[in-house]
Amino acid sequence: MRAPNPTVLVVGATGRFAGLVVPELVRRNASVRALVRDRPANIEKARKLGASEVVTGDLRNHQSLESAVEGVDGVFHIGPAFAPDEAAMGVAMVEAASRAGVRKFVFSSVIQPTNTRLENHASKVPVEAALYSTDMEYTILHPANFMQNIEAGWPFIVEHGVFSEPFPTTAKLARVDYRDVAEVAAIALTEARLAYATLELCAGMHSRDEIVSMMGEELGLPISAGEPAFGEWAANARLPYSDGQMYLLAKVFDHYAHYGVGGNSLTLRAALGREPRSLRSFIGELAQRSARAV
Ligand SMILES: NC(=O)c1ccc[n+]([C@@H]2O[C@H](COP(=O)([O-])OP(=O)(O)OC[C@H]3O[C@@H](n4cnc5c(N)ncnc54)[C@H](OP(=O)(O)O)[C@@H]3O)[C@@H](O)[C@H]2O)c1
Repeated sequence: MRAPNPTVLVVGATGRFAGLVVPELVRRNASVRALVRDRPANIEKARKLGASEVVTGDLRNHQSLESAVEGVDGVFHIGPAFAPDEAAMGVAMVEAASRAGVRKFVFSSVIQPTNTRLENHASKVPVEAALYSTDMEYTILHPANFMQNIEAGWPFIVEHGVFSEPFPTTAKLARVDYRDVAEVAAIALTEARLAYATLELCAGMHSRDEIVSMMGEELGLPISAGEPAFGEWAANARLPYSDGQMYLLAKVFDHYAHYGVGGNSLTLRAALGREPRSLRSFIGELAQRSARAV
């Protein structure tokens, strides 16, 4: 993007992940217009993260998207996980941006979107296809499993000495720190060098057996790897998902059980121009935070 101080619309700006993109953009002198749903807490949170404008809207309300994209140079889009109409929401965002003459669009998709046996991967494909049929400069990000997923269960891990996921402890998953994804997104929206790139974003692959050994070393406590049934795991995780969304999540874990998820760090390293944040350092940060809290 050639505009020296572009204005970028960030979808989901108060979410756990897009919320990390806002400060990265501000650090690069972009002005952020946050698109949030109409809740007072969202507006305040977006401003605290650094957004200079906050617009309320809904990905299901096309009219609200038309006003949200007016006058922006770029859009960062991430879709809500396991939403049955995630593809339609993404396509609507792409079309609204294209009609408004937005020059640059970054889509945070998923690793292996062509694994269409998983609905949450298949739902990214129409959004990517919609981008290919626009005149916008797009950058498509294919992030691996987010390391931040581990953070949600961290207090339980420290208290009970067990890290549980409902698939075998030997299954290796590609993982990425979403702060690195956010940095790549911000580079793509403020520089020209990632234009038209489709980037697999992965820091490395680890099994839960390997992860608990890292946790044990960082915490100085023994941590074991649990493998509960999906129902038991779901009861503890208390995710804000409907039965339909939980069914799709169960399918993802079933896939992990059989095949894990492969990923390669080559493109992330090249896009960042440095080593990606490792899972070991992510766990180290969590351990230091809990040590400070004691
Ligand atoms: N978790 C992983 O390991 C992983 C890995 C790779 C890719 N992904 C992909 O990452 C994406 C995000 O994951 P997530 O759902 O877990 O993130 P999330 O934190 O729930 O973020 C979703 C954001 O979208 C917003 N949102 C939801 N419905 C909306 C609507 N109708 N209109 C406008 N905004 C709406 C939410 O806003 P509110 O704050 O108002 O609720 C929230 O800020 C998914 O597409 C998933 O497939 C996830």
